[in-house]
Amino acid sequence: MSIKLLNKLTKSDIETTWYYTKRCMQYFRPYLLRIIISMISMGIVAACTGAAAYLVQPALDDIFINKNKQALMLIPVLVIVVFAVKGIFRMIQIYQMQYSAFKVLEQLRNELYIKMIRLPMEFFERNQVGMLMSRIVNDVNLIRNSIPEVIMLLRQILTMFVLVFVAFYRDAYLATFAILVLPLALFPVVYFGKKLRRVGRRNQEKIADISTILQEIFSGIGVVKAFANEPTETDKFKKHNSRLVKIALKGAFYNALSPPVMEFIGALGIGVVIWYGGSQVIAGNSTPGTFFSFLTALMMMYEPFKKISKSNMVIQRALAGAERVFDLLDSKEVTVENEGQEILTPPFQDLGFENVNFCYPGAQENALTNINLSVSPGERVAIVGPSGAGKSSLVQLIPRFYEPQQGHIYLNSRELSEYTLDSLRQFIGIVSQETFLFNMSIRDNITYGLKDISGEQIEEVCKIANAHDFITGLPNGYDTVVGERGVKLSGGEKQRITIARALLKDPPLLILDEATSALDTESERIVQEALEKLMFKRTSLVIAHRLSTVLAADRIIVMENGEIQDIDKHENLLNRSPLYQKLYNMQFEEPNGTTIDNQEEEKLNMETNV
Ligand SMILES: Nc1ncnc2c1ncn2[C@@H]1O[C@H](COP(=O)(O)OP(=O)(O)OP(=O)(O)O)[C@@H](O)[C@H]1O
Ligand SMILES: [Mg+2]
Repeated sequence: MSIKLLNKLTKSDIETTWYYTKRCMQYFRPYLLRIIISMISMGIVAACTGAAAYLVQPALDDIFINKNKQALMLIPVLVIVVFAVKGIFRMIQIYQMQYSAFKVLEQLRNELYIKMIRLPMEFFERNQVGMLMSRIVNDVNLIRNSIPEVIMLLRQILTMFVLVFVAFYRDAYLATFAILVLPLALFPVVYFGKKLRRVGRRNQEKIADISTILQEIFSGIGVVKAFANEPTETDKFKKHNSRLVKIALKGAFYNALSPPVMEFIGALGIGVVIWYGGSQVIAGNSTPGTFFSFLTALMMMYEPFKKISKSNMVIQRALAGAERVFDLLDSKEVTVENEGQEILTPPFQDLGFENVNFCYPGAQENALTNINLSVSPGERVAIVGPSGAGKSSLVQLIPRFYEPQQGHIYLNSRELSEYTLDSLRQFIGIVSQETFLFNMSIRDNITYGLKDISGEQIEEVCKIANAHDFITGLPNGYDTVVGERGVKLSGGEKQRITIARALLKDPPLLILDEATSALDTESERIVQEALEKLMFKRTSLVIAHRLSTVLAADRIIVMENGEIQDIDKHENLLNRSPLYQKLYNMQFEEPNGTTIDNQEEEKLNMETNV
């Protein structure tokens, strides 16, 4: 029966099992010495177990039947010694194994994290953050158990061999019979192993689903509350939770069923053995000591057998985890961002787009079509266009957040891909539509990604960015923690912090995606002023939603449907381009509804000309 089941395991099953086991083993290699120590200890533990079974015969025959006084002194001492030695080496074995396991866990987690954080933007759009988190937190943890459990399995098998040896030594005939029953006991190991592996895989998938849901709901909690949608979300969660529990229960069922099945098979064997062995002793062919020593060896076999089935379950689960982790780590499609060797250094010389076409991964239509553009040093270029025209998409290509499918982008006369990502991204300062702050102090947010920044430098840029006053007004000043995503700050305050951050970075090329969300007139003015100072004497590309920004630009790019319609100065465009006229009339209203007054305009022009 067991042979038939083994045959049912397809060749590819065995191949993948072997592949993932091998992959796991590679990670354990650095801890080979500890594993060897662990295995030697394991051998000693197995030997002690055998010795304990062996000692039953002299204990019974010499002490209890022959009433030998010497044996009465010796055997109890031996029993104590055997178990003490067994205990010590068992401890060594378990600790050394666990040590290696946790170190492997640490290593794998780091590798996964390093790979994930270096993956291109599009990967994070296609995959849910919760799923990624689940890989790092749960799946890796399963792998930790892989090799230790394999070794545990070896220990149990070894113990069994020792016990089989003792059994044979005591009564070869009976032992032969008992061994014949063993393959029967293999049946649940194989059968339940397969089932549990499948359940394990689905269980992990469901855990990932739940993490994804939690991640999304908690970060969007404001929307949930605003629409009073708690009941619906609760129902949704309950459904997923119940599915998870259903699968877990299935696993629990197999887990619960496996030991009794094995126990029953064992009981069958032992029943027959007692009947036969008893009749041998009664007939005078054997001593009670020999028989009980044999029986002890046989009973002791039960424990390793039980553990073998448990180890098998843990290994199956570990393999399910390994599959998910290594599939991600080894995936050829999921590659980290590629980069060149050149170091991009200031100053800014030129930026050029040549026939660039770009389509978001998985999107039907091009986001950008046939983009040609060049920017000279010190120039301020505004980009305007209706919503969805491709303005943000255009600027996102410059720090290589996305790769265009066709065309070339040059910076300082080399293609972007020739530069290292580090130097390229250090070269560019981005103040985007949505400000994102980490849940750290204001100081740490401002110096994010920068090294060796003094307190004076921070204050200086904050003064320029019109942020110093409001920061010093906060309870802990620069050490105030801003809350997740910066929720404790207003929109304008957050923007000024990102402006200070960009000022500190002091990039040769600045990309500004003006926020569409309207701030009130006063904070608008303060932010605008800070932005002006940031753009001062810097080459900048500004996605403009305000008239003042457009008027202050050297050239204006008019975009529609992913294409550049026109590039020119404000006056010329106003005369020539119907789209620009429409945008001018509809979009570029000043926040207070009036058009910009002459004084202000003059001031802006002056600033750009300095
Ligand atoms: N991550 C994305 N994946 C797929 N499509 C996207 C993605 N981001 C933007 N798009 C699509 O690309 C097109 C251009 O979007 P883009 O964000 O560049 O517009 P925009 O000009 O910046 O608009 P807005 O003024 O509203 O910010 C839109 O049709 C949009 O739906
Ligand atoms: Mg945009």
